[in-house]
Amino acid sequence: MNKKKYNPPQKLSLNANYKSLKDYSEEHKRSLKENDVFWSEKAERIEWFKKWKKVSDIDFTLPKIEWFIGGKLNVSYNCIDRHIKNGKGDAIAFYWEGNDPSESKKLTYNQLYDKVCRFSNVLKNLNISKGDRVCLYMQMIPELPIAMLSCARIGAVHSAVFGAFSSDSLRDRINDSKCKLLITQDTGVRGTKNNIPMKSNADVAIEQSPSIENTIVVMRTGEKVHMKNKRDHWWHEQIDSVKPHCEPEHMDAEDPLFILYTSGSTGTPKGVMHTTGGYLLYADYTFSSIFDHKSSDIYWCTADIGWITGHSYITYGPLSNCATSVIFEGVPNYPDFGRFWDIVDKYQVSLFYTAPTALRALMKEGDSWAQSRDLSSLRVLGTVGEPIKEPEWKWYYKIIGSKKCPIVDTWWQTETGGIMISPLPGATPTKPGSATLPFFGVDPVLLDENGNEIIGNNKNGLLAMKSSWPGQMRTVYGDHQRFKETYFTQFKGYYFTGDGAKRDEDGYYFITGRVDDVLNVSGHRIGTAEVEGAIGKADGVAEAAVVGYNHDIKGQGIYAFVTLMTGIEVNSAIEMSIFKTVTKEIGPHAKPDKIQFTSGLPKTRSGKIMRRILRNIANSNLEDMGDISTLADPSVVDKLIKGDQK
Ligand code: PRX
Repeated sequence: MNKKKYNPPQKLSLNANYKSLKDYSEEHKRSLKENDVFWSEKAERIEWFKKWKKVSDIDFTLPKIEWFIGGKLNVSYNCIDRHIKNGKGDAIAFYWEGNDPSESKKLTYNQLYDKVCRFSNVLKNLNISKGDRVCLYMQMIPELPIAMLSCARIGAVHSAVFGAFSSDSLRDRINDSKCKLLITQDTGVRGTKNNIPMKSNADVAIEQSPSIENTIVVMRTGEKVHMKNKRDHWWHEQIDSVKPHCEPEHMDAEDPLFILYTSGSTGTPKGVMHTTGGYLLYADYTFSSIFDHKSSDIYWCTADIGWITGHSYITYGPLSNCATSVIFEGVPNYPDFGRFWDIVDKYQVSLFYTAPTALRALMKEGDSWAQSRDLSSLRVLGTVGEPIKEPEWKWYYKIIGSKKCPIVDTWWQTETGGIMISPLPGATPTKPGSATLPFFGVDPVLLDENGNEIIGNNKNGLLAMKSSWPGQMRTVYGDHQRFKETYFTQFKGYYFTGDGAKRDEDGYYFITGRVDDVLNVSGHRIGTAEVEGAIGKADGVAEAAVVGYNHDIKGQGIYAFVTLMTGIEVNSAIEMSIFKTVTKEIGPHAKPDKIQFTSGLPKTRSGKIMRRILRNIANSNLEDMGDISTLADPSVVDKLIKGDQK
């Protein structure tokens, strides 16, 4: 492969937390060899009410994953109180930048303490206590991290649902974990959309969510919304009438901290469950090392808090490190394509973390948007969520980082809780497109289809983990068997990631993408089965098969092959009805980019759809369709290639 390497800038290495590849390699070896000793040393980074008795108890065959057994701590205490105790109360925790450039706020750690304590008391007044589930359905407003931290303070388990999900998706997630309380906002603003109906979506969801006792509504826009007497409460009214102190609950290291739903290749979304001690330590330590965080830094992660990146690297990791962060409500192209760079310039952002899809969208608009802003404050650039290709990597490096900022391409998953494979900015030479080397305590392997470890470099395989790390998910909420089947059954003794990867001659990992039926659309993880199910509910649709195809901006686009009921004609109304149904069932981010109507799908005699053929057609790889002799009707392939609808 032999790609050019980009060495860490000397100035950065000199003061970095890890200064050379040798430093990294020695520490990485030690972290695997003396795993428990390593993690018990690192666990001193956070403050415990009671020290753990045993560092870890792991058995992937059950699976059983426990870290810092017997330890007691509180995440909100670690993210706020201990910094105030250390004299940092006046430091800024968040700069909040509204969708409209004229709107902004800032919040010190002292102010965050006040808001979190008050809101914790509000939660208690509404009958929420340790172990109860609270659903958060909000846009990027300061009340979202405040609500997360308040749940953590009293031991309630939050379940954030990304603000673009439909009421049906929201309802299903509330019901799966039986949330008692829903926190939302009146309406939301994002780009030119200034009236996203959050509360009214929530109202529809709650009609079929019997576990919800109360809702709390943040007044974000002042739009008129329906408030049901006794059930619905305004955030601002509640928060004024409570005490400004709330003792943090002493939580067990293995008590649940949050649930976050994510899509798999089959079935309904899974409630990925993370616990308290291991998750916090892993988010804390990866943030500090991978962004080389210093107290003078201004950090900005452009992800949405409704996804794992926002949980670990907007809320918990940065706050645990007493960082100063920017939270941005809007989108990269509003009011124009210079918005990201205006924000970097305005707050003098030094650590910047974004997704390749955003870079591709911005790169397409030319260099002048970035070049007309002062980006000299930038020190480290990060990416997450999907493979970054060489053109956008180089653009990021040259145009945004002026060739002086290392790029940390961070590979991880909702399930892993924190970053697993990534350069360390002061230590690891980078290569475009490679997430490089495993983080401390992370032991990746490549497996072949039979589960044999592939030894040596310059090899391709299935990416799995040989041992546990503190940030690992502990279970699928309410379904431990599904946890076992999804991640630990195909390859015994390993955690299987669902991704494929290459390891080059230097042992660097290049993630090649999912090997299952999960799509990654603009960094959103979407199961093909979910989209197929949604399309199948549209009037007139007989069957649908969905695959991914290469998309210039989104990374992967959604390509749907659809057969209609006998007698139903293909027309634009049918197409509209499919879009509407998918938006209702899942949300607008899951709408197909292309629909191909067809009279039949390529099925084997046993009725299984051969997706390989559909993927080839969607990506215009028409030359080699491989073996099609097992198809019940091989002539379907020709019809699909020609685009015949009958
Ligand atoms: O396929 C990998 C891809 O995103 C998947 C995880 O998605 P999700 O759980 O939504 O978490 C995204 C944010 C952590 C992975 O299985 N992925 C994530 N980061 C990268 C990546 N693919 C390539 N390179 C990355 N840096």
